[in-house]
Amino acid sequence: MVYIDEIKNMILALCEKNGWIWKSHIELVVKYSVELAEKLGADKEVVELAAWLHDIEKLEGKRENHHITGAKRAEEILKNMNYPSETIEKVKHCILTHSTDKNYPPKTKEAKIVASADALSHFDNFLALAHSCAVRGESIDETKHTLSRKYESCWDKLMPEAKIMADAKYNAIKLILGEKQALNKRRL
Ligand SMILES: [Fe+2]
Ligand SMILES: [Fe+2]
Repeated sequence: MVYIDEIKNMILALCEKNGWIWKSHIELVVKYSVELAEKLGADKEVVELAAWLHDIEKLEGKRENHHITGAKRAEEILKNMNYPSETIEKVKHCILTHSTDKNYPPKTKEAKIVASADALSHFDNFLALAHSCAVRGESIDETKHTLSRKYESCWDKLMPEAKIMADAKYNAIKLILGEKQALNKRRL
């Protein structure tokens, strides 16, 4: 579908307004979504659309329940571009279930991929996450605590294939955070 470039440009323009970390986050989520879709034989168009659009509400300054409102916003955008309703429903499910909200667990292969790609991106962005802790004025100990909790939750969000992709980085991060006991391949 030709409109993917239009969506990409719209999201990148929003990223530019919100700072460099956002461009990096969204592009990584797209990259890992497509990579996992190819590996697992999932619908590449659905995951790519969902990856570009998954945080659109945050990018537009609305953080609360961004997965719920984001799914509706994506529906509007895709309807205006005349995407088939079947594609729109699949993309909406991916966006609705990409966060850690237990009320909306990912049910399709595509949704599990986007949720995993969202978490995978953070393993590449360790410095950016540490930087945001510093910007919030957290001490070193607070930063360690925040990052430790964040990466535990990211790890829990990963599908098995994504755990294999993140394993080396996860263990490196645990080492840096002084949590050597987490070095345990049996977690995979
Ligand atoms: Fe999100
Ligand atoms: Fe995200």
